[in-house]
Amino acid sequence: MVQLTLPANSKVKTGKTWPKPEGAQNLKKFKIYRYDPEGGESPRWDTYFVDMDKCGPMVLDVLIYIKNNVDATLTFRRSCREGICGSCAMMIGGRNTIACTKGWDEFAGSSITIAPLPHMPVVKDLVPDLTNFYAQHAYVQPFLKTDTPEPEKEWLQTPEDRDKLDGLYECIMCACCSTSCPSYWWNGDKYLGPAALLHAYRWLIDSRDEARGERLDDLEDPFKLYRCHTIMNCAQVCPKGLNPAKAIGEIKKMMVERVA
Ligand code: SF4
Ligand code: SF4
Ligand code: FES
Repeated sequence: MVQLTLPANSKVKTGKTWPKPEGAQNLKKFKIYRYDPEGGESPRWDTYFVDMDKCGPMVLDVLIYIKNNVDATLTFRRSCREGICGSCAMMIGGRNTIACTKGWDEFAGSSITIAPLPHMPVVKDLVPDLTNFYAQHAYVQPFLKTDTPEPEKEWLQTPEDRDKLDGLYECIMCACCSTSCPSYWWNGDKYLGPAALLHAYRWLIDSRDEARGERLDDLEDPFKLYRCHTIMNCAQVCPKGLNPAKAIGEIKKMMVERVA
C-alpha cells in the first residue's frame, strides 16, 4: 500500500510535550497533530502520555481521555462510538481508519501517531473539511430515481436483486477510502473518488432504479470515473470491509457494455 502523507498544509513542527501522569505503570505515548488554521500558527505534533490502565480499549477512548483529563483544546469528531456514523475517521499509525473500532493495543511499540485524514483541508486538529467529499456524494444522486408512477405500497425487489446491494449499502461515508487514494489526492476536484463511485454503483445496479443511462452519462468524462488506476488502497483501508475498487470496475464494464 502507498504510504499515506499528511495534509497539504504541513510542514509539521514539534510542539508541546505534556507531563507524564504520576505513578502510571502502563504508559503509552501519543503524537497528535494539532492545527488551528485561524490561530495563525503552523501545524505541530503535541506529545501526550496516557496511563492505559485508566483508559478504554479503543483509540477514540484515548482521545476522549486526553480531552477530559489532559488537554481540553484537542479537537476531533465523533458521534456513535460503534462504527456506524463514520465521523471519527482519521489516520492512526499511518493508516486511515475509524478511531472508535480501532484498538490501541493493535499497534506495536510504545508510541502511536494520530493525524487527520490525509490531503484534506483541516478545520481544526483531527477534523478534516469534507465539503468537497459530500458534494461528490450528492453529485451521484444517491437515491431511487423512477419514471413509472409510485406503487400503492412499495417498490418490490426479488431477494436475488436485493443481494446485489450487499457490500455497497453498508458504507458509512467515513472517507477513509477516498483520502487514501493517490488519484484522489492529485485530482480530488475532478475525480469523484472511491466512496462516491461506490454509491453510484449501488444505485446503478438497484433493480428498482430507472435512471441507469442518465447515471452513466453523468460519469462519462476523463476524470470523474476513469482516474481510478486500480491501486486498491481504498479496499485495504475500508473499516467496513467494502471494496470500492471492485464497484468502480463494474461501472467501467457497464460503460463498455452499453456502447458494445
Ligand atoms: S483502486 Fe481506484 S479508487 Fe481505489 S485507491 Fe486505487 S485508484 Fe483510488
Ligand atoms: S467505502 Fe468504506 S472507507 Fe469508503 S467511505 Fe464507505 S465505509 Fe468509508
Ligand atoms: S464515532 Fe461513529 S464511526 Fe466512530
